[in-house]
Amino acid sequence: MKNFELRNRHFDRLVNATGIRWLGQNTNHFPNHPDVHAALRRSIEAEEYHIYAPPAGLEELRALVAQDLGLGDLSVLITDGAVEGLYHVCHTLLSPGDEFITTDPSWAWPMHFSAAAGAQVTQIPIFGQEHGFRLDPDRLRDAVTDRTRMIYLVDPNNPIGCCCTEAEIAAIVEIARGAGAFLVQDCTYRDFAFDHHLAARLYPERTITTWSFSKWLGFAGLRVGALVAHPDVLERLAKAPPNNLGSNIVSQRGAIAGLRSKTSWFPMVLDQTRRNQHLVHEAVSRTEGLDVPEFPSNGNFLVITCEGSGARPEAICAALNEKNIMVRQGAYHTETFGHRFIKVSVSVPEDWVAAFCEALPDAMDRARGNTAEIALF
Ligand SMILES: Cc1ncc(COP(=O)(O)O)c(C=O)c1O
Repeated sequence: MKNFELRNRHFDRLVNATGIRWLGQNTNHFPNHPDVHAALRRSIEAEEYHIYAPPAGLEELRALVAQDLGLGDLSVLITDGAVEGLYHVCHTLLSPGDEFITTDPSWAWPMHFSAAAGAQVTQIPIFGQEHGFRLDPDRLRDAVTDRTRMIYLVDPNNPIGCCCTEAEIAAIVEIARGAGAFLVQDCTYRDFAFDHHLAARLYPERTITTWSFSKWLGFAGLRVGALVAHPDVLERLAKAPPNNLGSNIVSQRGAIAGLRSKTSWFPMVLDQTRRNQHLVHEAVSRTEGLDVPEFPSNGNFLVITCEGSGARPEAICAALNEKNIMVRQGAYHTETFGHRFIKVSVSVPEDWVAAFCEALPDAMDRARGNTAEIALF
């Protein structure tokens, strides 16, 4: 069977199962604010979905996104999730022979999009104590060439959970500007960070900020995200987008309500997410051979290294899966470092985290003896 069929069946099985504890995809499983439910219901009951939404998104949503990010001078394009925006940016702004630079690990899909556009993908390793689990701007400076057309910075980094300091962002901007490159700052996890700095404030002309409603608002299945960029850049991107018929109108109504209720709802999510990080950290520190190298994380997830545990990431995931607990194997993010870690997402109810903590010792015991081939995606 073809790989994409296997992958699809794997996820189809998971989404149709009952009782899965989703600790693997950085999704957010807290009940939404009642205003969000009401907005989604209102839109469905009015059968608004018979029409197309405006091509760049509902004006109210575009304005709220710009306001939330504090990027009022820039333009907003509402996309079908951040991933569609990234696809579009890579395919539209990269040509064969261009170079696309990112970190290793990074979020893998934009690398596939860039390669499909004919660009050469360069990754700067940042995993490991020798790199401090973060990108040193000097290493980016050394990697840039006269062909560098795009720098893709996942900030906060998924999966590591590091976040660039203000000085690092200033240095990265200076390097991007010197190279005349687009800087794509993927801010999908910005809302979970302790202190986040937008490159677009320093380099508005060529920074493309991507943002998602999947993680902070818990809208992964509703598919809504945004690209924020200089009007000239967005004019170019708006010429031939993959979806010029407007993003899901129901989702956009929900996203508007989400932004309007954010200050009264999201602090609860953040508090519980950070409490969950502590619970996972405690369970890991009681388990031989496991470690959390970046703590606390600036995302809604933690990397857990397992090199000293005698168990492979895939075997740990499989053992937890048997208890209906889904966590992610490192190979999803990186070929080079994937054998060294798993990732656990924590924007979930505390009892899911408690189930993970309770299951971990036994799962590790079973994983240590498991040498079978395990297909995970
Ligand atoms: C770094 C990063 N960017 C983008 C996305 C996709 O976001 P969306 O669900 O809005 O397409 C993800 C999803 O995991 C991600 O980790």
